[in-house]
Amino acid sequence: MVIKDGLVVTAQDSTKADVRIEGEKIAAVGQSISPQSGEPVIDARGKYVLPGGIDVHTHMELPFGGTVSADDFHSGTVAAAAGGTTTIIDFAIQGKGQSLRDTLDAWKKKAGGKAVIDYGFHVAIGEMTESIMNEMKSVVEGGCPSFKLFLAYKGLFQVDDGTLYKAFLRAKEIGALICIHAENGDIVDVLTKKLLAEGKTEPKYHAASRPPAVEAEATGRAIAIAAFAGAPVYIVHLTAKEALAKVREARARGEAAYAETCPQYLLLSSERYDEPNFGGAKYVMSPPLRPKEHNEALWQGLQKGDLQAVSTDHCPFNFKGQKDLGKASFNLIPNGLPGVETRLHLLYTEGVTKGRFSVNKFVDLVSTTPAKLFGLFPEKGTVQKESDADIVIFDPNKTFILSAKTHHQKVDYNPYEGFVSKGTVDTVISRGEVVFSDGSFLGKAGRGRFLKRKPFSAKNI
Ligand code: URP
Ligand code: ZN
Ligand code: ZN
Repeated sequence: MVIKDGLVVTAQDSTKADVRIEGEKIAAVGQSISPQSGEPVIDARGKYVLPGGIDVHTHMELPFGGTVSADDFHSGTVAAAAGGTTTIIDFAIQGKGQSLRDTLDAWKKKAGGKAVIDYGFHVAIGEMTESIMNEMKSVVEGGCPSFKLFLAYKGLFQVDDGTLYKAFLRAKEIGALICIHAENGDIVDVLTKKLLAEGKTEPKYHAASRPPAVEAEATGRAIAIAAFAGAPVYIVHLTAKEALAKVREARARGEAAYAETCPQYLLLSSERYDEPNFGGAKYVMSPPLRPKEHNEALWQGLQKGDLQAVSTDHCPFNFKGQKDLGKASFNLIPNGLPGVETRLHLLYTEGVTKGRFSVNKFVDLVSTTPAKLFGLFPEKGTVQKESDADIVIFDPNKTFILSAKTHHQKVDYNPYEGFVSKGTVDTVISRGEVVFSDGSFLGKAGRGRFLKRKPFSAKNI
């Protein structure tokens, strides 16, 4: 297949060029590549040719709060592809007493036969025994060089500082990157009980139970423990300017501290919790949405390089039948919202067309740096000879309206309902196969592959 006359955009540059795909790989990027006889041609004149999006933070089929997130690995990856994402990294979460091997096997079983794009896993560790420390090495060798530890969700996923320290020490030895959910779960627990005792049960009190200081403290603590262990750290779903300051300061000291934010924390604010008729529940996620001033701080964090990636934390629960499990009390609302399908449209429109950053920076945030951080580069995350042919043809001249009526996410609301995207995902190619074109999904269930990722190395970033 040859993609003709598009503007090939990488994190470094934009070049008018043709792209030849042979099998699953990019065979050539250059001027005037002539199609051989019978070779399909895609006309990309006036359009961008981008590396497929890499979303390093999703939760398909996640058991949470007495229910399970609404997208499985089929609907969730169809939605991802429709939004220009060709790789996801999901979280395999260790159950009580479960080995890491069994944890990973359980998640591989959920994804196998369903995923339509390539996928990897981070393993979320809940307890740190001698045998888990030993197993971490084989998990890395098996292609999952990243782990998540939660400093929140007391009594569920939360780990203590000793566990955290041991994880960092081990990660340093075996070439892994520890991802941190940074909120102080003990303080959240105290605040939650106090609010409930005062009869404050509505969704908006979810935000009051997890203020920015709680996120900043945990962010600073994780960074400090990582530095003490001499290990890198990646803060997931960063939301608050005070937490951002902790990352910025660590990076200024030369520490290997990295962080992502998500579109919801850039575009939405805590006013959403005031939506009537329990509507605020749609935005109950952890950490919560913040007042508007934090949105702008996060945009600046992206511009200045203090934040290196934009992922989604896609974790959808239906408003009817799932979010309403918490009608009586905000702490019973399943945490999370949909987003795997909307990340590129939102970030392109708000980031590039509003002049906040270049289209190259956009590519860097949604694809290239995530690939580098999580051991996928250069097979994924760029458009160059020998890379996987994971390509998005993006039309900057067409608008597209985000809506639950048309999205592929299997959830009954879209947090960005009516948002007008100034540009649209036109065609999506995954390992040389057109999986999305002209608004239709064309790929087969199960065509997505488990990706064996390379160990972490700060030199690659
Ligand atoms: O509210 C959220 N973020 N739900 C998903 C689980 C997590 O903490 O990432
Ligand atoms: Zn989290
Ligand atoms: Zn998450």
